[in-house]
Amino acid sequence: MMGTPVLTIDGPSGAGKGTVSRAVANLLGWHYLDSGSIYRSLAIACLQTEVDLSDVAAVCDIAQNMQLSFECGETLQVSLNEQNITHLLGTETTGNAASIVAAYPEVRAILLQKQKDFQQLPGLVADGRDMGSVVFPHAEFKVYLTASAEERASRRYKQLIEKGIDANLSQITREIEERDRRDSERATAPLMVPEGATFIDSSSLSIQQVIDAVIALVR
Ligand code: C5P
Repeated sequence: MMGTPVLTIDGPSGAGKGTVSRAVANLLGWHYLDSGSIYRSLAIACLQTEVDLSDVAAVCDIAQNMQLSFECGETLQVSLNEQNITHLLGTETTGNAASIVAAYPEVRAILLQKQKDFQQLPGLVADGRDMGSVVFPHAEFKVYLTASAEERASRRYKQLIEKGIDANLSQITREIEERDRRDSERATAPLMVPEGATFIDSSSLSIQQVIDAVIALVR
C-alpha cells in the first residue's frame, strides 16, 4: 500500500541481511520481504522441472505460473505449487541457480509486482539486491549492508559446518566471488548502493551492532 513506510536492506550474499532484516522487522513489528527467496523458489521450480536455465522463455513461463505462498511463523515457510520447499531454499545449488535466472530482465519484470505487494501497513523491511534501487526506489529508509568476501565466506562456512554439512572454504569463497560478479555486472537491476542509502560494513561488527545501527536509523 502506498504511504506505508519501507526500509530496504540491500547487499551481497552472506553480509547478514537476512538475520538483520528479520530481527529489525520483529523489533518494529513490520512485515518482512525476503526477495531472494522468490528468486530461489523460481530456481527450485526450474530445477524440479529440469528446464534448461539458459532457456529464458521456458524460465519465464515457470515464473508466470508458479504459485508461491509465504507463511511467517517462527521461521519463514515457503510453498511452491502447494509443496513445502523451505528445506531446499538455502542450498548452494539453489542460490547459484537463483542468481542465473535473476539475471534475466524478463524474469525480474514478472516478479516485480509480487514483491511490491508486500508493502503493507504498518511497514515493510525488504531484503535483497535491488530493493532500494528498483522495487522500492521511494523507500523512506535505505541501508546497504556489506562485508569483505573473505568474511562472508567464512561466515557461510561456519553455518554449513554447524549444520553438519561438509564444506570447503576456498570453494565457498570462489562461489561467493562468482555470485558477486554475476549480481553486480548484470545489465538489469545490478547490485549497487542505492541513492540515499546508509552504507554499513559489517566485517568487524556483531549482528547486534548492525541491528542497533539500523534501528537507530528508523527511530
Ligand atoms: O539473497 P539471496 O542469496 O537469497 O538471493 C539469491 C540470488 O537471488 C542472488 O544471488 C541474486 O542473484 C538474486 N536476487 C536478486 N535480487 C534480489 C534478491 C535476490 O537478483 N532482490
